[in-house]
Amino acid sequence: MSERLIAPSLLAADFANLQRDIEMVNQSKADWFHLDIMDGIFVPNISFGMPVVKAIAQHAQKPLDVHLMIVDPDRYIQTFSDLGANTLTVHYEACTHLHRTLQAIKSEGMSAGVALNPHTSVDLLKDTIQDIDLVCMMSVNPGFGGQSFIENTYNKVSALKEIVEQKNTKTLIEIDGGVNADNAKRLMDAGADVLVAGSFVFKSAHPTQTIKDLKEAIV
Ligand code: DX5
Ligand code: ZN
Repeated sequence: MSERLIAPSLLAADFANLQRDIEMVNQSKADWFHLDIMDGIFVPNISFGMPVVKAIAQHAQKPLDVHLMIVDPDRYIQTFSDLGANTLTVHYEACTHLHRTLQAIKSEGMSAGVALNPHTSVDLLKDTIQDIDLVCMMSVNPGFGGQSFIENTYNKVSALKEIVEQKNTKTLIEIDGGVNADNAKRLMDAGADVLVAGSFVFKSAHPTQTIKDLKEAIV
């Protein structure tokens, strides 16, 4: 049985009306806030940093799921804990000592996530899966919202679900990028637990209703 959670990505929110969009998520059926932190080095884009996360945390009434798309994420583990992150996700490709990084995240009281780029095999997590609370499976190349979903993600989700079941861990599988009403159900059936949705939610005419529809589509 999988969890069935929706995490709207604020990257697609209206930054000039951020409080309004946060309140919309607070009032909606969404489960988490997904926050995308980009450094312009690990990914070819810069999103927002600590002062903005601090402002978001003051209004958000649901857990903060922070996705670090930055090199050398160990530098900021404590900072994001202080800012109120509930889950802190680092990229597999950005960590030389992933096991140590995961322990550091957990010792700060956060859930530890690992994100995988589309080219990174889920097999690489076999030896750390018992230490991972969440795998953020990138279904687009990280760096931008609004890209189209990579179809091979279904295979990767099934393969990862098998590893999680074999090792009998409680690791959640999160899908990030290009999620919409057309792929949500199939992703859940393949073994996903959490769906991140940016553009599909915030660029829709009625975001609260879109979240509700997405949630109902995966139940
Ligand atoms: C992409 C980010 C995603 C992004 C998803 O690098 O990690 O979280 O906001 O946006 P959509 O849902 O528009 O693909
Ligand atoms: Zn993300």
